[in-house]
Amino acid sequence: TRYMVALLLSILAVCLIPADAKCPFNFGRARAEDDGEILQAEPRRMLMEFDAVAVNKLDIDAVKADLKALFVDSKDSWPADFGHYGPLMIRMAWHCAGTYRQSDGRGGCDGGRQRFDPERSWADNVNLDKARGLLWPIKQKYGNALTWGDLIILAGDAAIESMGGPILGFCAGRIDDADGTASLPLGPSLDQEMVAPCSVNGDCEAPLGASTMSLIYVNPEGPMAVPDPEKSAPQIREVFARMSMNDSETVALIGGGHAFGKVHGACPTGPGPSPAEQPWNPWPGTCGNGTMKGKGNNTFTSGFEGPWTTNPIRWDNEYFQNLLEYDWEVHIGPGGHHQWRPVKKNSSDPSEPVANIMMLTTDVALLKDPSYLELVKLFATNQTALDIAFSHAWYKLVTRDMGPHSRCLGDHVPPPQPFQAPLPPPPAKKPDYKAVTKAITKALRTASSALPGDTVGGKPYYGALFATLAWQCASNFRQTDYTGGCNGARIRFAPQKDWPQNVAMDRVLAVLAPIKASFPSLTYADLIVLAGSTALTDAKAHKIKFCGGRSDANPNETPFPFQPPRVFGNKLVQLKDNALVMGLTLREMVAQQARLRSPSQQRRLGYSGSWTENPSLLTNDYFKVLLNNDWVNTTSAAGQLEMKAVGKEGIYMMPTDLAVKWDPASAAIAQEFATDSTAFLAAFASGWNKLMVADRFKGPAGNECA
Ligand code: HEM
Repeated sequence: TRYMVALLLSILAVCLIPADAKCPFNFGRARAEDDGEILQAEPRRMLMEFDAVAVNKLDIDAVKADLKALFVDSKDSWPADFGHYGPLMIRMAWHCAGTYRQSDGRGGCDGGRQRFDPERSWADNVNLDKARGLLWPIKQKYGNALTWGDLIILAGDAAIESMGGPILGFCAGRIDDADGTASLPLGPSLDQEMVAPCSVNGDCEAPLGASTMSLIYVNPEGPMAVPDPEKSAPQIREVFARMSMNDSETVALIGGGHAFGKVHGACPTGPGPSPAEQPWNPWPGTCGNGTMKGKGNNTFTSGFEGPWTTNPIRWDNEYFQNLLEYDWEVHIGPGGHHQWRPVKKNSSDPSEPVANIMMLTTDVALLKDPSYLELVKLFATNQTALDIAFSHAWYKLVTRDMGPHSRCLGDHVPPPQPFQAPLPPPPAKKPDYKAVTKAITKALRTASSALPGDTVGGKPYYGALFATLAWQCASNFRQTDYTGGCNGARIRFAPQKDWPQNVAMDRVLAVLAPIKASFPSLTYADLIVLAGSTALTDAKAHKIKFCGGRSDANPNETPFPFQPPRVFGNKLVQLKDNALVMGLTLREMVAQQARLRSPSQQRRLGYSGSWTENPSLLTNDYFKVLLNNDWVNTTSAAGQLEMKAVGKEGIYMMPTDLAVKWDPASAAIAQEFATDSTAFLAAFASGWNKLMVADRFKGPAGNECA
């Protein structure tokens, strides 16, 4: 036994050295590769098959009843403040969901990765291991029907309800990950440093979600721990906007959340080692002595101390009233951090009693910004306005990463919400797709006054433009939060039609407009995808499939803030990251680089030309041209950085093409494709077919085209 303990301790010691290659465990760190090869995070892994039938049948009311009973059954191992675990559960749910970031759809509670490093050891997640521990009996009781992701969010919902707060509903269907790999890009990790480094910790920039590594959003003490509420307000606005929360949602969430519970910082000595440092007894707490050391009144979580309201287990708008009722004075609390205490307004007697409450710098910040202040005044005087704003913002917060409404399971799902980008149902009758394909095939080589296309063999040719339109329509899909894709054909409207990479796509649509007009039940979304697929089949691609049934978004809908695929210049690791976000394997992504590329469109995009003047055949020639030439950087007349083949006239590639040659893993795939056309065509079809139906959901884990 002594030998085993010694061995275990020596392994753990090795693991505490940052990025040590000998560590057999991955405590939230990326695997460093010493040959300089670019890292690629792996896609999400599931521990077990997701059981959608069981989740759908789950009696959510029964789970909530069990949760509510648990909340008021205080345990000696972790005594409940005020006899109620509700506030702790709300903080856990908020920290699980609040990692979501709009920039690439990563984060959120789907996956339940708060259980794993890096998230479980974040400074903001101190003592949430205790909250998850309290939930284990309920997880055990409901088994597969209740994933950790769903349980954590449902615990937050039940807690709000049990203390009288408003809840809109529950979207079940979060799929648990087997580990924390998908959170590595959130950091701190090697993956995050390579894809999205934070140059000043405390002022991290998007795509990162938080201003500070290991926190959910901003430093509660103020920017860089300076208690300056004026400077804190813009930082709050910036980071809440990174998950598309507006001012009203932000203020309702902060003040609604802080209607409950308290902050913990009984003494200045800290919470003790994190789970990554001490997995057997994380955050034991260092305040107090004896059996109550580190818990109850001796708890150290954030290092601040006190409640925001006089009844922290009752839903109301007292938080907002307190903000307005008092002047707030900064001081150092018992945990050694700046926090704010109330002072009676206009009182000449400093000893006049005040409520035993406190505020954080980020709370006081809501008084220092004119827009936030108006909302504080509204919520302080209008409980109904707060109920409505909070319940909607909370549902958005915890559901944003689940994608469209059709992915939600269970019988507590509210109607589709604006943030879910709802689409009208597709036309009841499907068009004759064979007849549509025939019309598209004719249009491939028929001159159109809408747009001069390419010329191949002296004749007009639109195939590459049709394939480009389909790619542009579909390739903003993100498997991270299930948003984007061609369903809805939102490429027709702003903002997508105005993205620089979509230049002239409206004119390609105009080439297809007569076909749309002659098939009344044909949607633009189906037409765009079918035109791309037809062009590829005409170009001798193999096994390109089509699955109809898409619907068109209403042109008058509120524009959705879908994000374009991120354009990174020639940063290889970030290009590979794009493939991952899209849900393609590296092999499929490398194959897509060879998709039909219209020389006329390349010139419209500001490049001097393309790698071939004949885009009418899908072959592995692209890889031969890429690998068999030397390239030199130039700038086109329109100012685009491009690569010119040395010693050849008129052969150009883009930085994203050369990235394939420079990255060893991508280059190995390109070499295989250059010598094996069948392998290339198979990988191409696999990626294309996957992407074109990636946004067609049937429940959380299903696809209606499968
Ligand atoms: C607790 C900061 C937004 C809900 C805390 C604590 C801090 C904090 C420092 C103390 C943790 C401890 O020591 O136990 C912030 C900051 C926010 C923010 C800086 C944004 C600017 C929110 C939101 C919610 C929320 C949006 C939920 C909608 C809670 C709850 C607690 C809490 C319920 C009490 C936990 C307990 O009693 O154990 N927050 N918070 N917070 N927060 Fe927030």
